[in-house]
Amino acid sequence: MDIVVSGVRPTNRQHIGNYFGAVKNFVEMQSQYNCYFFVADYHSLTTHPHPADLSANVRQTVIEYLACGLDPEKCVLYRQSDVPQIPELYLVFNMLAYLGELERAATFKEKVRSQPDNVNAGLLTYPVLMAVDIIVHRALKVPVGKDQLQHLEMTRTFANRFNHLYGVEYFPEPQAFSFSEKSASIPSLDGEGKMSKSKGESTVIYLDDDSDTIRKKMMRAKTDTGPTEPNSVKSQSVQNLFDIMQLISSQDTYNFFNESFNNCTIRYGDFKKQLGEDMVKFIEPIRERIKEISANEAYINKVLNEGGEKARLSASKTLNDVREIIGFRKF
Ligand code: TYM
Repeated sequence: MDIVVSGVRPTNRQHIGNYFGAVKNFVEMQSQYNCYFFVADYHSLTTHPHPADLSANVRQTVIEYLACGLDPEKCVLYRQSDVPQIPELYLVFNMLAYLGELERAATFKEKVRSQPDNVNAGLLTYPVLMAVDIIVHRALKVPVGKDQLQHLEMTRTFANRFNHLYGVEYFPEPQAFSFSEKSASIPSLDGEGKMSKSKGESTVIYLDDDSDTIRKKMMRAKTDTGPTEPNSVKSQSVQNLFDIMQLISSQDTYNFFNESFNNCTIRYGDFKKQLGEDMVKFIEPIRERIKEISANEAYINKVLNEGGEKARLSASKTLNDVREIIGFRKF
């Protein structure tokens, strides 16, 4: 059975971009593959979180994973920092990653722009750590959103470089995976770019947003002055809302508003109201499960303890092989 690995950085609340870009695929994949899903807490150290926040965010992210339908009976669910083989392999792979290629990563360049006072070495080698997360289980499939594709390309480069340098066929080439034909990019409600917390609270829908907040955010989502000619091309902001409707509303609802756009009778107020109601219906059960699971501390700990154990078992096999391959051998 193919091995699957993916993760998300811990945050106090995950949004629907994370859900549709990643976690929804995790849920579907867990019954079909040998899956390892984790909370990337080492990665989040690049932004120097307060220890209490880091710990609360890891907990909340695990709860939200479970609330979205990840089943610890079907997949291995763990915290990255519970697997010491990951930092060990990261050290080895840092020797195989070149400064020039790390500096060219789009995410690194973006961080240099957005946090010029904290351009630490961990940001530079972020793609190495991410590659190691994947190859430590020798995974073949990695469900991620579109924004992570360059990191996957780099993962393949590092894996191939290891194989080449040591003359082995040890690490397979992991591929990005999505059930739809292309990787998802869930748009921001402000009409520009992907949904991301960094663009402001009102531009994202969180998995635990209450119903009134969802309705308000949807009503405030950016549109335009409306179509003036039949079958005109949609502006980016309107297209974004149609894209979200395609994910959460029925096909009939989507077709109705699409036709009314095409014949210029659409009223954006009604369109966004419908989108708000469908979003409320989508979020409600997830929010309720988040509440239930939050109250069950023993269960959350059990999931992480058992997941950590299974992840370490898999990772230690790889590390034993790697140590042998690179020449850390007994005399
Ligand atoms: P992160 O925490 O930023 O996002 C988690 C996952 O959600 C996807 N995602 C989106 N997809 C579509 N549209 C959006 N608006 C959107 N926002 C987020 C991301 O593509 C990602 O799949 N570096 C990773 C975490 C990571 C990882 C890994 C992932 C660390 N190691 C190994 C896979 C394998 C990150 O920062 O994701």
